[in-house]
Amino acid sequence: MHKLAQLDRRYVWHPFTQMRDWERAEPIVLVRGKGAMLEDTQGKKYLDGNASIWTNLHGHNHPKLNRAIERQLKQVAHTSALGLANEPASLLAEQLVKTVGRPLRKIFYSDDGSTALEVALKMAFEFARRTGRSRAPRFLSLDGAYHGDTIGATSLGHIDLFHKTYGGLLFKSDKAMSPACYRCPFNRAKPERADARTTRKCQWECVGKVESQLKRRKYAAMVVEPRVQGAAGMVMHPEGWLKRVSQAVRASGALLIADEVMTAFGRTGEVFAGRKEKVVPDFLCLAKGLTGGYLPMAATLTTQSVYDAFLGEYEEFKTFFHGHSYTGNQLGAAAALASWELLHQPKAKVRRKSMERVLARELDSLWALAAVGDVRREGLVAGVELVADWKTRRAFALKDRAGIRVCEAMARRGVLTRPIGNVIPLLPPYCTTDAQLRRMVRVLRESITEVLGAGQV
Ligand SMILES: Cc1ncc(COP(=O)(O)O)c(C=O)c1O
Repeated sequence: MHKLAQLDRRYVWHPFTQMRDWERAEPIVLVRGKGAMLEDTQGKKYLDGNASIWTNLHGHNHPKLNRAIERQLKQVAHTSALGLANEPASLLAEQLVKTVGRPLRKIFYSDDGSTALEVALKMAFEFARRTGRSRAPRFLSLDGAYHGDTIGATSLGHIDLFHKTYGGLLFKSDKAMSPACYRCPFNRAKPERADARTTRKCQWECVGKVESQLKRRKYAAMVVEPRVQGAAGMVMHPEGWLKRVSQAVRASGALLIADEVMTAFGRTGEVFAGRKEKVVPDFLCLAKGLTGGYLPMAATLTTQSVYDAFLGEYEEFKTFFHGHSYTGNQLGAAAALASWELLHQPKAKVRRKSMERVLARELDSLWALAAVGDVRREGLVAGVELVADWKTRRAFALKDRAGIRVCEAMARRGVLTRPIGNVIPLLPPYCTTDAQLRRMVRVLRESITEVLGAGQV
């Protein structure tokens, strides 16, 4: 075993990993990357099939991003945002606020997705109290919601496997029905193979459920992952759900928190997923791709009225008492500015659209496999759901480790991604070539066949 693998096994405790399983195999130790490719200590090359857990936008070792960080490094790597401003964080704030548009006017920096949510949560909580909406503000979030792992963000989550253990530590948030069409109890019309299809049309029962919840209680805010719920298993919301729910949230007087930690920066086809339905939230949480996937940095954008609720005389203590040592970090902000520029190049937008078409075409071939229940895609996010029986949609039991085994088979063939239960996500970096995209899906197909059989529909 390579020395670095030995060191890892001896000392490192990995996130979301059963370490007993980890200790049984030699870990892949990555040492370099270029474009969509990564390379391990043995010189074996892999395609980065999930953009390094949904963070990387333009590829690894990108010359423009490298240069931006090197340039900033020659100035200063980090200074505190507590009482001090800095150049790249100010420039980045201007870019983001100008692009997002009204009414989002202010930006609060933090470190990662969880802290971006934590900031929105605390601001919305205090806003609801200060404006007299509620003395004990509560939040509404979706079934299957995942907003991060800090205690506040965990409290907003509704994935039992991740969140139940910590129940005693968390505050209570209410769970709203998620518009997960594949397992919709009301309407099984979408998406389908012909013989499993029913003809009943969607009546937006799921929206009705959210509307009645919003009427029952004065929530401080509702939190949503616009268009795609990532950790729920790349659950894609039907067109129109976000618009309808955002209107219901507005009508109820609650605020809307959009967690675009995964969906922002072109992932779903627009710079922000909410734009696809012309929805502008009261809080926009960004992280992951903000720095192109280079450095940990996050941002929570909010409105002038939320900001104003925290203004007062020093001794009134209306200050937003929250911050992190690395808030507004210069290297992160410099990378984010360079990434932002790359994202908006006209040829990059055209390329992403073309990638979407190739990915859609390739994914279509997976419907033929009996072990595939659903193939979901929005922009450059795909989720392939493996099932024990495609006709009844019976899921594989967790102990079958279907998703894990398929991803292990993919890694042996040189494509890296990480399963979410029985769902295999594919989120190619935007520099992925057509040939690489085709290879990603081919490897997924071969791996499903190897692990779960070649049964056809
Ligand atoms: C939608 C969403 N929100 C928040 C988070 C938490 O982000 P982080 O892991 O950077 O704390 C994630 C992470 O996957 C996410 O997908």
